[in-house]
Amino acid sequence: VLPDGVSIAGLRALALSLATEAGAAVRARRPEHVTVAATKSSDVDPVTAMDRAVEELLVARLATERPQDAILGEEGDDVPGTSGLTWVVDPIDGTVNYLYGVSSFAVSVAVVAGPADPERWTILAGCVHDVVTGRTWSAGLGEGATADGVPLPAVEHAPLGRSLVGTGFGYAASRRAAQARVLAEVLPRVRDIRRLGSAAIDLCLLAQGSLDLYYERGLNPWDLAAGALVASEAGARVVGLRGHAPGATMTVAGRGPALDQFVSLLEAAQADAPDGA
Ligand code: IPD
Ligand code: CA
Ligand code: CA
Ligand code: CA
Repeated sequence: VLPDGVSIAGLRALALSLATEAGAAVRARRPEHVTVAATKSSDVDPVTAMDRAVEELLVARLATERPQDAILGEEGDDVPGTSGLTWVVDPIDGTVNYLYGVSSFAVSVAVVAGPADPERWTILAGCVHDVVTGRTWSAGLGEGATADGVPLPAVEHAPLGRSLVGTGFGYAASRRAAQARVLAEVLPRVRDIRRLGSAAIDLCLLAQGSLDLYYERGLNPWDLAAGALVASEAGARVVGLRGHAPGATMTVAGRGPALDQFVSLLEAAQADAPDGA
């Protein structure tokens, strides 16, 4: 699937350099008061000037470095390409945290073969750069995952009842009540829940064993591409419900028997039911 002269290691190095450069820009240019430039899927789904500026930076760098590749970015960039590779970028994953000055927001950069569709793509390389701590996770397909350049060690799996579970809640108003209903099924059966506010960081925390399980409904390709590769290259499994690929309907990550039990719990809770059902 790789075009001539392109290596996974080279793509991974580029993802890392783009994400860290973008992260430095977010740190350097954070104004004293961040303001909402617009709202997206609902009144509580903000976009700031920084989200747009960082996406512009990423697209401009890719236009120079990889002019033949396609780009899909959260803030509206959808650049066609001819190489069969697509860069899937989230300039700030965790915009609500960025807005409030809460830690846990990241730049997420991934490159996939095929379309930017979690059902059909192959994720080749990805990088998640935590803007506040500077911690940088990266992975290349078949090459393992690292945090700040150090390979992530194998992680023991915990039983479901002692699992720390990360999750997130999509901002679409139509989905909020259903998310609350599923959460009520999950919470009594696990150690505790963390809603940290960045899906990309959640998946990297899962990769390094700082979360035992993770689930979320409504993720977009740019939320999950880089983090899912970091998690799977670290030895975790990233799946959907009922044998589907991870994606918008449901993304679940974890290890060992607890992951299978958790998938069954989410299936029984109809966590993949259509909105409003
Ligand atoms: C959001 C974050 C959040 C998740 C939301 C995403 P954004 O991305 O990843 O953790 O729960 O579903 O939309 O909008 O901050 O890039
Ligand atoms: Ca957003
Ligand atoms: Ca996001
Ligand atoms: Ca974003």
